[in-house]
Amino acid sequence: MIELKGVTKRFPGGAVAVDDLDLTAPDRAITVLVGPSGCGKTTTLRMINRMIEPTSGTVTIDGEDVHAMDPARLRRGIGYVIQHGGLFPHHTVERNVAAVPMLLGEKSRTALPRARELLELVGIDPSLGKRYPSQLSGGQQQRVGVARALAADPPVMLMDEPFSAVDPVVREQLQEEFLRLQAEIGKTIVMVTHDIDEAIKLGDHVAVLRTGGVLAQLDTPRELLASPADGFVADFLGRDRGYRALGFDAADYPVHEEATVVLGTAVGDAGGHADSDGWVLVTDEGNHPLGWARPGDAHGAVTEEDLALGGTLARQGGPLRGALDAALSSPSRRGVVVDGDGVLVGTCRATEVLEVIESAERRQAPSGARR
Ligand SMILES: Nc1ncnc2c1ncn2[C@@H]1O[C@H](COP(=O)(O)OP(=O)(O)OP(=O)(O)O)[C@@H](O)[C@H]1O
Ligand SMILES: [Mg+2]
Repeated sequence: MIELKGVTKRFPGGAVAVDDLDLTAPDRAITVLVGPSGCGKTTTLRMINRMIEPTSGTVTIDGEDVHAMDPARLRRGIGYVIQHGGLFPHHTVERNVAAVPMLLGEKSRTALPRARELLELVGIDPSLGKRYPSQLSGGQQQRVGVARALAADPPVMLMDEPFSAVDPVVREQLQEEFLRLQAEIGKTIVMVTHDIDEAIKLGDHVAVLRTGGVLAQLDTPRELLASPADGFVADFLGRDRGYRALGFDAADYPVHEEATVVLGTAVGDAGGHADSDGWVLVTDEGNHPLGWARPGDAHGAVTEEDLALGGTLARQGGPLRGALDAALSSPSRRGVVVDGDGVLVGTCRATEVLEVIESAERRQAPSGARR
């Protein structure tokens, strides 16, 4: 567990970057620091591994004051992914990943094969290991940075905007991979981002900082969305926070039986039928939904070209937001619900999901302002 108590950093010249910060980052969890540019996120991170010394206050790891620890020993137990990658440009990718173990005396004979394993772990083809960082995309460089931080197998990882240099689609993939990885390796992680969506997706706990390095709120994402401590936090979470909060609660909503047609067969043959709007759900032979089609001719076989793109799938027993997304993104406006194996369960309607949300809200105790 990492604990900051009354930590203040005043830089020479007078700027207070971090002001009397109390923060706890529990073991094997992801604690996210989020806030506007210049609010002291990087400074806070660097006070944990003593790249910056606090002006006052204490930082402890598992009860041990970092100030009393030898900085080299301290940093051996802490992986650090710095803002903007920070790879050595004149070393190959795999040599970058092996840098810390080799610095600690490990031979390249064992360090380089291990580096290639780590590259694979973060989703980089090990064949890219012989390239130089400038020959990789920004997102690939960031993954290499993550692999490098993992190389010494440290119990603690500090990550400064590790996924910032990539476009939204790749970013989402990286986030998913990262959550999968963390479920396996269970590091104690403090991560910085200025993206509130990323904070809510990745954080077990989220600390919202305001300019001047003051902690505005430290809570689970669910609590943060349900009861922001003040107007600053509410603004920072944005206008659609109510919608995002739906991502957490699973509830039962009506699921209707849906007539389907197997790809390559005709609507008429299958005994299926298009609804009155003409949309019919197309599946494979294992009853996995493939998409919607509006074949028009019930006697012609439905082909891949008939499939309309778009439409997310809702998982049975999953959050209400997933069900609402599925219904609203479906061309037929019927949201496709699947079980854990991706097999069709039925379809849901946006209006009915909204009714469930509304009645759940009515049941909740009248909510006053917290704190
Ligand atoms: N070495 C320094 N000397 C003086 N002031 C500094 C120094 N480093 C940071 N600061 C100031 O401290 C404040 C916090 O900086 P910090 O880098 O921690 O912000 P940040 O939250 O990481 O911002 P960003 O999101 O832009 O990375 C800023 O006002 C910055 O100008
Ligand atoms: Mg920063």
